Amino acid sequence: MPTLNIFGPRFYYSIHLFIILMSAATQEIKRVTTHTLQKLKAAGEKISMITAYDYSFARLFDEAGMEVILVGDSASNVMAGHETTLPITLDQMIYHASSVVRAVKRALVVVDLPFGSYQSNPELALASAVRMMKESGAHALKLEGGVEIVEAVKKIIGAGIPVMGHLGLTPQSIYKFGTYTVRAKQDAEAEKLKTDALALQEAGAFGTVLEKIPSDLAREVSGSLSIPTIGIGAGNGCDGQVLVMHDLLGINQDFHPRFVRKYLDLQSQVTGAIQNYIQDIKSGSFPSEQESY
Ligand code: KIV
Repeated sequence: MPTLNIFGPRFYYSIHLFIILMSAATQEIKRVTTHTLQKLKAAGEKISMITAYDYSFARLFDEAGMEVILVGDSASNVMAGHETTLPITLDQMIYHASSVVRAVKRALVVVDLPFGSYQSNPELALASAVRMMKESGAHALKLEGGVEIVEAVKKIIGAGIPVMGHLGLTPQSIYKFGTYTVRAKQDAEAEKLKTDALALQEAGAFGTVLEKIPSDLAREVSGSLSIPTIGIGAGNGCDGQVLVMHDLLGINQDFHPRFVRKYLDLQSQVTGAIQNYIQDIKSGSFPSEQESY
């Protein structure tokens, strides 16, 4: 009668597989850092970035593999319904940022310092930055502007806080611009933008957003900087791209700028789902017996 040898090749194969699966399951997720972004630029790999303002969406975006999650002050528009980004406060940004940070395991979480929290002097800028880092757990901050805010940027970086710039259309200055049209189309403004980008890089910024500028200019700036550029409405010559989540998911019905690609029509889907829910309540078909205790 043949004897059963449980320690045959199959046994060792199963043990081997078990060890591989266990180590994969317990392996630490490699976090995206500012250095990761630098490496992606050097390798010519584009950087992905999206806005998020709450725990649930941030978790979905992180799990989907997004590299950078921006808690933008666009929260003022899309979460609070304000016309501009100016009204949102530091406390409100801290609330949004801390919700996002709690959800994220891998992505780099960059948070906007809101209007009025850094422009008046570098000391105020540092105090706001420290509050944001301590109270929200953010990994990095974003500030709008060029040479005008370079001293504030240096002060914040000097305290060990990574800073990202934001040039071109800077919504916190909307009342100075007067409109949301494309910036830096004229030579003088394009030159100023190049100077600003270099000043931010020299101050130690780890990257900069370029918003709504001609794609040729964005390509030139991206090529001239060693730090990554992230474009929004700035063409595909940037080192990465960012969109506001409400725009790409189709939550905003009445915002259709050329630079937005809609990946979903959530507005129709949510409206349809909610209408079905209302109908089911009215008809008495919800809840069914299976949905009751
Ligand atoms: O606040 C924001 O959402 C932003 C993006 C538009 C880059 O700054």
